[in-house]
Amino acid sequence: MELEQAIRERRSVRKYEQREIPQAVLEEIVELARFSPSWKNTQVPRYHVVTNGEMKQAVADHCVLGFAFNAKTISRCPVLAVVTAVKGLSGYEPDGSFSTTQEDRWEIFDTGVAVQTFCLAAHAKGVGTVILGVFDEEKIRQYVPIPQEERVVCLVAMGYPLEAPKAAPPRKEVAELLTVLP
Ligand SMILES: Cc1cc2nc3c(=O)[nH]c(=O)nc-3n(C[C@H](O)[C@H](O)[C@H](O)COP(=O)(O)O)c2cc1C
Repeated sequence: MELEQAIRERRSVRKYEQREIPQAVLEEIVELARFSPSWKNTQVPRYHVVTNGEMKQAVADHCVLGFAFNAKTISRCPVLAVVTAVKGLSGYEPDGSFSTTQEDRWEIFDTGVAVQTFCLAAHAKGVGTVILGVFDEEKIRQYVPIPQEERVVCLVAMGYPLEAPKAAPPRKEVAELLTVLP
């Protein structure tokens, strides 16, 4: 799939076929996501993939801050990726001090960059995704084994799309987004 086509056609997908995503396909997606740029090539994003129905339902029932819309999406998806960042590397000097005034926010930035690549790679392989930002990290840790040295950055619900994607929600015009300075 052409890159421009993938960028234009990727949509957030919230309804899925019930078939599994083969592990080989998950590996191919992460194999592409790992080429994302990162702070000093620290490569802090990690993908904890939940396929167990009970664990996934526990996240839906207890870990979305009462946001029923996300609970429904998680209940429906055959695969839920809990995306984390290894703490203390991206944005840090070797002595543990922050490199910039952005402090530890580069680890979230790096993970966002990687998740965009992850979602585009998934789309290119026919797998739908939606990034979920409404979740309770502490609750997730109660139900999903996440290493202490990682922070949860987002969830990505995944599955083969049940229906053809709707048109993209409106995008702002380029003129509003781009300022070419004199
Ligand atoms: C940081 C972030 C958090 C998001 N959180 C949620 C969420 O909690 N639930 C949800 O259904 N969609 C969520 N989305 C998906 C957006 O709603 C979606 O990307 C946006 O409406 C544009 O639609 P599109 O992805 O189909 O182009 C999130 C997206 C991002 C990037």
